[in-house]
Amino acid sequence: MANNENHKLWGGRFEASLEKWVEEFGASITFDQKMAEFDLKGSIAHVTMLGQTGIIPKEDAQAIKAGLEELLEEYKAGQLEFDVSNEDIHMNMESLLTAKIGPVAGKLHTARSRNDQVATDMHLYLKAKLAEVIEKLANLRSVLVKLAEEHTYTIMPGYTHLQHAQPISFGHHLMAYYNMFTRDSERFEFNVKHADISPLGAAALAGTTFPIDRELTTELMGFAKPYSNSLDAVSDRDFILEFLSNSSILMMHMSRICEEIINWCSNEFKFVTLSDTFSTGSSIMPQKKNPDMAELIRGKSGRVYGNLIGLLTVMKSLPLAYNKDLQEDKEGMFDTAETITVAIDILAGMLETMTVNDAHMAESTEKDFSNATELADYLAAKGLPFREAHEIVGKLVLECTKAGYYLQDVPFERYQEISNLIEEDIYVTLQSKTAVERRNSLGGTGFDQVKWQVAQAKQDLT
Ligand code: ARG
Repeated sequence: MANNENHKLWGGRFEASLEKWVEEFGASITFDQKMAEFDLKGSIAHVTMLGQTGIIPKEDAQAIKAGLEELLEEYKAGQLEFDVSNEDIHMNMESLLTAKIGPVAGKLHTARSRNDQVATDMHLYLKAKLAEVIEKLANLRSVLVKLAEEHTYTIMPGYTHLQHAQPISFGHHLMAYYNMFTRDSERFEFNVKHADISPLGAAALAGTTFPIDRELTTELMGFAKPYSNSLDAVSDRDFILEFLSNSSILMMHMSRICEEIINWCSNEFKFVTLSDTFSTGSSIMPQKKNPDMAELIRGKSGRVYGNLIGLLTVMKSLPLAYNKDLQEDKEGMFDTAETITVAIDILAGMLETMTVNDAHMAESTEKDFSNATELADYLAAKGLPFREAHEIVGKLVLECTKAGYYLQDVPFERYQEISNLIEEDIYVTLQSKTAVERRNSLGGTGFDQVKWQVAQAKQDLT
């Protein structure tokens, strides 16, 4: 199959061509075309600079710029076709430009390499994605805050070890997730700092002999600053690793709330009912309504973690500067960006449309011992050392368990036998609502504390 006519843009020093299947192995156009728009925008900035600095004649720069702008329009209209024999998005664009404006297109690549070009494209792509992710997270966070406000007074069992521990406000539970997603958002905001640097002008690895103006291209592309070291500029993928790592933590958080939602809509819990619009049925069991979307988000955390480990492994031990290994940085980044942006919206939609069975949630705290701490605290507040109070209540719980009733069912006479510190008000103290209301320590589940958290969050979101 090999022949000695090589039409590649880099074909000069070659006598024979790659065979088709080898060419396909090396090509990235099937996936890096996702950066087409950014590739064109980067080229427009580069050629503008080449013209302004006089590195190429102004008229040539103008002709190239006009051609690139046309390509951008055609791309947006879905009219561009890419060819695997042009390897990647950069050479495809150059070849489309040559077809459009002729050999002057060949001046575009002056003082530039695909190494700084690809890094530039990825910085631009990720910057745009980060803005989208942060916006979507803000929406998810406001959905949580709204739901938390509605359910400030909804009582649910708080769990440790998945056992009823102490009654809490459902709003409080939701605000815990609000906090996780707020930290996620902050991590992505920090990620912007490292994505917002321009590698353009680093050329292949060492900079260039041409009098380029990197400040100008940096400004034209809207980056905060240029990389200060050309080797670092072409081989840094930390901004992507940060994105994958931040996304992994985000997916972990989403998988936690999804796991809870999956539990909550089971027959055992019946705490929430998902809207039909976010549920699916079974092909065999007519009664089924499954929380598939929550399960999928939980499941998709696997691919996002995989993408992180994948790129960490690509980067490990990679010598400076560019190596073709770096082409493996893209698919995981695209896949992660696409996965998390949809997952955030699905989760927000699912939460917004689900029905909370608040009466049932509250009821499930009535037939349990989640008020045992209330009794121990009651005695301790009256001066009994907490350890002794704990022991007394523990014994009483055992007694109740054997007799088949709960602390709120213990007759008053029995309470008085146990301790003369116990008065009639014990029955109100043992109610779930009282238990929640009284946990008014800063950040606790007390209604006033939940209201305070909600108010703070609303302020943060504006
Ligand atoms: N498609 C390549 C990549 O994604 C572009 C850079 C190619 N550079 C090179 N020296 N072969 O990494």
